[in-house]
Amino acid sequence: MRVLITSAIPYINGIKHLGNLVGSQLPADLYARFMRARGHEVMFLCATDEHGTPAELAATKAGKPVADFCAEMHEVQATIAKGFGMSFDHFGRSSSPQNRELTQYFAGKLAENDLIAEVTGKQVYSNADGRYLPDRYIEGTCPNCGYDGARGDQCENCTKQLDPTDLLEPRSAISGSTDLEVRDTKHLHLRQSTMVDQLEAWIDSKKDWPTLTTSIARKWLRDGDGLQDRGITRDLDWGVPVKNGTEDWPGMEGKVFYVWFDAPIEYIACAAEWAEANGKSEADWQRWWRTDKGADDVKYVQFMGKDNVPFHTLSFPVTILGSNEPWKLVDYIKSFNFLNYDGGQFSTSKGRGIFMDQALEILPADYWRWWLLSHAPENSDSEFTWENFQSSVNKDLANVLGNFISRITKFCRSKFSEAVPAAPLDAIAQERAGLWASLAPLIKEYETHMEAMEVRKSANTLRAIWVVGNEYLQNTAPWTVNKTDPEAAAAIVHVSLNLIRLFAVVSSPFIPHAAQQMMDDMHTDDWSWPEDESALSALSTDHAFTVPEVLFAKIDDETREGWAERFAGKRD
Ligand code: 2FM
Ligand code: ZN
Repeated sequence: MRVLITSAIPYINGIKHLGNLVGSQLPADLYARFMRARGHEVMFLCATDEHGTPAELAATKAGKPVADFCAEMHEVQATIAKGFGMSFDHFGRSSSPQNRELTQYFAGKLAENDLIAEVTGKQVYSNADGRYLPDRYIEGTCPNCGYDGARGDQCENCTKQLDPTDLLEPRSAISGSTDLEVRDTKHLHLRQSTMVDQLEAWIDSKKDWPTLTTSIARKWLRDGDGLQDRGITRDLDWGVPVKNGTEDWPGMEGKVFYVWFDAPIEYIACAAEWAEANGKSEADWQRWWRTDKGADDVKYVQFMGKDNVPFHTLSFPVTILGSNEPWKLVDYIKSFNFLNYDGGQFSTSKGRGIFMDQALEILPADYWRWWLLSHAPENSDSEFTWENFQSSVNKDLANVLGNFISRITKFCRSKFSEAVPAAPLDAIAQERAGLWASLAPLIKEYETHMEAMEVRKSANTLRAIWVVGNEYLQNTAPWTVNKTDPEAAAAIVHVSLNLIRLFAVVSSPFIPHAAQQMMDDMHTDDWSWPEDESALSALSTDHAFTVPEVLFAKIDDETREGWAERFAGKRD
């Protein structure tokens, strides 16, 4: 199979918190790693979302030209993503020339197909700031839910897409001024409302999509006045200049496309950037994206937080379908609820919670990966607490997985040597068959959950697989057996050491760094997936290994309390 995977592209304006990570990049990486491990051909893409007001506002705050700010922040985000083990095939930039060209191209196609209207509309002008205030330059109260920190493009609280003029009691996000007036200005609107029936039929055909995804899509399709046409241009300097294909667009001089118009197109442009960066051809990236160029057998999966669902189920599909060209439509949208932090929300503006760079400062990535994925907010919002984090790490990673590896390798070293011990073949075969009988149904279950992107269920099954190791040692007790029957003990140890490699292989989508360490300690790079009981004989007699350093250290109470205090408020 060929699998195209995209993660929602993070805004450039700052370092993301763990709530952002668990809703997009991390589960996408889990799936990408699993699909590769199963032998599928994967293209995993992500990028920074660099246009729009968030970028401009943050650059102003940092006192830098916006292009420089974006270039720097892109490197920062790329480094952190790498630290978390994100296995992107390419981490692109929505400000790339490829995205500029494709965005203008799609706008041209949409215009050709009568899906763009030129509308003279109202826009908020700030007298104090001497400029128009699009999107996030305005804050106010959400007309839908009453939240008073709603932005001009979307309410963070209820996910409703807004226009700046919808806000009640609006104020400038630059100066806080309420001296605002509404002026007439011309903009392009995407005529999404004309495609409601087509979109609905498409959503209805997706029987296996998560309810979270389809319920949000249906809500914005039909609730109230139904799906509204959307302005796709803004009075800003920073962004993709408005053009009709390669032609100028009369009346649109000095305007740019709205960030949410060009951001999803970056999913496509990112593949073109990948091709350029790796000396590949246009055909090489188009075979992922054009159904007339080989992408008809590609399975395309998107990962995102619930606030991004309307754009991916409605607006972006309008761009794709409305182009009337054979671009690949998404096959499956995996969406997530929100992760809360210790009794409240993660907040970028308040610096509340743990940010990706800070997380890596205090612990290696796999501790975070394991906790976040095993507590992914799939069916409802979930909450990070330090107590829960401490207990998961100590129990699952240190006591179950780490302890098994440490016990068996140390026992082998002390009673035999630092190599897989010899034992009678029939004794090995018998141990292997018994152990495989416990593992096989769990590995099948794990594969099923992973294929279905059931993240929590996959984590639970993986934990159950690890538990099999400890139970096996508990039941067979090689340290006792060794006193009377060293050959029988050797057979148990022989098979147990093979189990470490098996654990590394199946765990690597969740904890890739520890898995690599386990493979290094076992002196092997045989990553073959366990298909049958021969998976427990990959390391044969006399195969040397190294007793590992502590794989996962336990977190003590004092450390936990220190962290809880450090991350309670404004970030340093
Ligand atoms: O919510 C966000 O962080 C957006 N930057 C996601 C964009 S996803 C896509 F459409 F590009
Ligand atoms: Zn709201």
